[in-house]
Amino acid sequence: MCGIVGYIGARAAAPIVLDGLRHLEYRGYDSAGLAVLDRAGELQVRREVGKLANLSRLVDEAPVEGQIAIGHTRWATHGPPTQLNAHPHVSGGGLLAVVQNGIVENYHALRERLIGEGYVFTSDTDTEVIAHLVHLYYQNGSQGDLVDATRRALSDLRGPSAVVVVCRDHPDKLVAARLGNAGGVAVGYGEGEMLIASDIPALAPHTRRIAYLDDQQMAVLTANGADYFTLDGQPLVKDASLLEWDADAVDRGEFRHFMQKEIFEQGRSLTDTLRGRLDFVGGQVRLDSLNLSAEQARTLEKVTIVACGTSYYAGLVGKFLIERLARLPVEVDYASEFRYRQPIVNPQQLVLAITQSGETVDTLAALDEARRCGARTAAIVNATGSQAARLCDGIIAMQAGPEIGVASTKAFTASVVDLCLFALYMAQARGAVDETARRELLDALVRLPGQVGELLAEARQGDHYARLAARFGEFSNFLYLGRGIHYPIALEGALKLKEISYIHAEGYPAGEMKHGPIALIDGQTPTLVIAPRDSIYEKMVSQVEQVRARGGAVLAVAHAEDAQMRQLADAILPIPVTHELLTPVLSVIPLQILAYEVALHRGADVDQPRNLAKSVTVE
Ligand code: G6P
Repeated sequence: MCGIVGYIGARAAAPIVLDGLRHLEYRGYDSAGLAVLDRAGELQVRREVGKLANLSRLVDEAPVEGQIAIGHTRWATHGPPTQLNAHPHVSGGGLLAVVQNGIVENYHALRERLIGEGYVFTSDTDTEVIAHLVHLYYQNGSQGDLVDATRRALSDLRGPSAVVVVCRDHPDKLVAARLGNAGGVAVGYGEGEMLIASDIPALAPHTRRIAYLDDQQMAVLTANGADYFTLDGQPLVKDASLLEWDADAVDRGEFRHFMQKEIFEQGRSLTDTLRGRLDFVGGQVRLDSLNLSAEQARTLEKVTIVACGTSYYAGLVGKFLIERLARLPVEVDYASEFRYRQPIVNPQQLVLAITQSGETVDTLAALDEARRCGARTAAIVNATGSQAARLCDGIIAMQAGPEIGVASTKAFTASVVDLCLFALYMAQARGAVDETARRELLDALVRLPGQVGELLAEARQGDHYARLAARFGEFSNFLYLGRGIHYPIALEGALKLKEISYIHAEGYPAGEMKHGPIALIDGQTPTLVIAPRDSIYEKMVSQVEQVRARGGAVLAVAHAEDAQMRQLADAILPIPVTHELLTPVLSVIPLQILAYEVALHRGADVDQPRNLAKSVTVE
C-alpha cells in the first residue's frame, strides 16, 4: 500500500517521479504528492487529492524544476485522503521532506513528545512524526548529519516503514530506509543517476540494474551510486542484480486496462511458467530453486500453505493437487489468521507461501512464524526480488511477468500451474503416482498454454462476454457454485466480480447449497456454476435443475460442446477439455473476463477499484 519514488541525477526529476508514481498507482490512488529540490535550492511541494492525474495537472499549472525529487501515491491509513494528509510531509519550515510506506504504530506517543518539543502538526498522518523526528535529531544530536538524524529517528519508530528523505542542505543525496515488512524498497542504478521505488515497474523504464533493501537497512543515494548501511551504522555491500523484465512489460500496450492485458497474456505467461521445468525424456519435473532434495521431500509430513486473497484461492486448488498426486496432507490457511492461532508447526513440515508480490505483510509474518517454529519455508512468488523470495529456503518463480491490475489474474493461473508442478515433484520424490498417470498429466500440462491461447482468442473475437455483461450486469447479487477442485474457482470468480464491479457475489461449494444459500435464489439472483464434464458432472446438473426450479437464471462454465448444459443453462461460458486436475486453469478465465466486462458495463474503474490496493503492506 502506498507507492514511493525518488530520483537523483542530471535529468528533470519531476516528470521521472510522476511517471514512476503512475507505474505504482496500483498501490494506492486516493492522493499523491511530490517534493522537488528546485534550482534555487528550495524544496517545492505539490500535493493533490484523488488520482495521480490531478497531481500531474497541478504540476503542469505550477511546474517545479530540479534534479532531485521524491514522490508518493497514497492509500490512506491515518487520516482521510485530503491535501494536507498527502505526502510528502515537511519539517523545519521546508528544510526536509519525507515520504513513507507503512505504519508508525507508536505515533501517538511520538506526536505528544514532538508537540512537547514545540512542533506544530498540520496533518492527521503518522508520517508527519517521522519528518519532525528527523528534523529534531538533525538539529540536536546529529549536528546537521542527515543520515545520522534519519537513523536516530527510525530507531524510535515501531511498526513497518519504508522511508525516503530529501533535505535542502544536502542537494547531493537521498536517504532511504526500510524497517520490517514495509513493502519493497528497490534501488535502481542508472547512468549518472539513481532511483528508488517501492516496486520494479517504476524503475524498469530507466534501468535494469536493481538492488533491494532488507529489514533494518539504509541506503544513501547520490547521482553516482549508493552506499548501504544497517540501521546501527554498519556498512553493507550489496550487488545489483539484473532485472528479467523489460520496460514494455510494465505498459498497457494496445489494451484498455492492465487487467485486460494480463488476462490476455495468460497463454504466454503459462508457457514461461512451464519452460525448463519439464523433462520429457525422463518424464520428470525439475524445480531447482525450490532447494528441496528428493530425500527432504520424502521425509516431509505435511505442507501448510499460507496466502491472502486470490493467492489463497490458488492454495485451495493446490491442496487438491498435492493431496491427490503426492498423497501428502495439506492445510491451507489465510496468512492473516495463521500466526494468531498458535499454529502447530514443526521441522517436518513445509510452510509454502503463495504470493504474487512477495510483499504482503500478513504472508511475510506467517513465514516469520513458520521459521520461528523451525519449519522449512518456500514461496511460489512472482516478484523474485521481493522479501518473500529472499527470505525463504527455496522458491518457485511464477514467471508471470509484472502484474499491475489490482484484481489478480495471470498470477492465479501461474500459481496453479506451479502448484501442479510442485505436486508432481513431490509425487515423483515420494513414488506416489504411477508412470501412466504422470505422463497423462505432463502431456496435458504441455498442451495447456495453447488451450488457454485458443480460449482467449475466441473470447476476444466476438462480443459474447459484452452481451452477457449487458444481460446480467444490473443484478445486485450472484451465487457462484463449484464442487471439488472447482470450488476454489467459484470463490475466485465471486471475488473477481466483487473486487471490480462491486456486485455482491458469494462462492459456495455446490453440495452445500441446500444448507442455506438456496434460500437466496429467485429471479433476481443469477447463479453461476462451474460444470465441466468430469466425475461430478451429474451432480452439477441436478444443482442447475434446482436453481431453475426456483426461477433463478443459470450461467455455466462448461465444455463448449456440452449440448446438455447448453439446453439447461441460460448462458454458457465455454472452455476446452483438459485433464481434470488442470481444468481450474481454464475455468477461471471466463470468470475473469466476465467480471471485467461487467465492470466495464457498470462504468467501474477496473484497474483502480475503490478501497483496494494491489500490495497490502499494512495489517
Ligand atoms: C491484495 C490484492 C489481491 C491479491 C492479494 C494477495 O488483496 O488486491 O489481488 O491476491 O493482495 O497478494 P499477493 O501479492 O500476496 O499474492
